[in-house]
Amino acid sequence: MLAKSERNLEGWPSEEDGSVEIVFDHVFFGYDDDKTILHDISLTLSEPGLYCIVGPNGVGKSTLVKCMSKIHETTSGKVTINGHDVRGLRHKDVSEVIGYVPVTADDVFSMSVIETIMVGCQENHKLKSRREKMRAVYDAMELMQIEDLGNKRFNELSAGQHQKVAIARGIVQRPRVLILDEPTANLDVRYQVYVTELLRALAETEDMIVVMISHDLNISAKYAHSIIMMEEPGKIFKVGPPAEVLTKENIEKVYRIQCDVIRDERSGAPIVVLGWPITGSDGRMD
Ligand SMILES: Nc1ncnc2c1ncn2[C@@H]1O[C@H](COP(=O)(O)OP(=O)(O)OP(=O)(O)O)[C@@H](O)[C@H]1O
Ligand SMILES: [Mg+2]
Repeated sequence: MLAKSERNLEGWPSEEDGSVEIVFDHVFFGYDDDKTILHDISLTLSEPGLYCIVGPNGVGKSTLVKCMSKIHETTSGKVTINGHDVRGLRHKDVSEVIGYVPVTADDVFSMSVIETIMVGCQENHKLKSRREKMRAVYDAMELMQIEDLGNKRFNELSAGQHQKVAIARGIVQRPRVLILDEPTANLDVRYQVYVTELLRALAETEDMIVVMISHDLNISAKYAHSIIMMEEPGKIFKVGPPAEVLTKENIEKVYRIQCDVIRDERSGAPIVVLGWPITGSDGRMD
């Protein structure tokens, strides 16, 4: 196995100041040769903050974050992390920088909750001793308020409890970049708000880039520093602060649903009030 110095990765993953820059440079991706899913994606993530990826079902949000974390390799164009083409990096190199929390974790069903979260500690090189790792696991459990689930098996949990454990496993890694695919999908409204606020706070206090996929436009509007809105067929439509991206015109065009956008008097964030889906002349959803 080649050492990092031989692979021109001396010092990886550190930039001098600990910053990370992920660049998508004209990326195309398809699962099959005859169908392109991601079309000419160019995107730079360099500022710490909470980024919410929004867009219709099947537009390519999960595929995009999988290209970011080297689960998929681009068909053409490239993804770079601090200037290094991801294709030249090992999965292990990428996981030193990027933590990825999938929609549903399916690799840990027979493990206990504590063991499941402990897996995340393997990526956190600051945690040396078993004692430090256990402390970090319990801190993450406390943060997600799942201390009472520690000895339960993962497959004995409800969907929302799964999700809290998966988020705790991501948090315990303390990666520079944390990517979560619909982390709030199965959570009740209280935890949807709690988790999104927590992710924003984590981004701010730890100078992390946190990327989450979400279908909740109002929670994204309230907490994201930046919204990445995707449109059919697998393109970036707009990137920017919630008030600039989550406009009536943009939402109606991208989601094909009537809506009004008002402003929250307290936070200034946009609030989306949904109307009816826009249908074709035959009345069908198109
Ligand atoms: N493993 C796969 N093999 C083949 N096609 C796939 C695979 N995974 C996803 N696709 C296809 O790629 C497209 C984008 O899927 P993706 O999961 O990225 O969408 P998404 O925006 O995350 O949607 P959702 O909001 O429903 O989660 C869809 O047409 C989907 O059918
Ligand atoms: Mg998805």
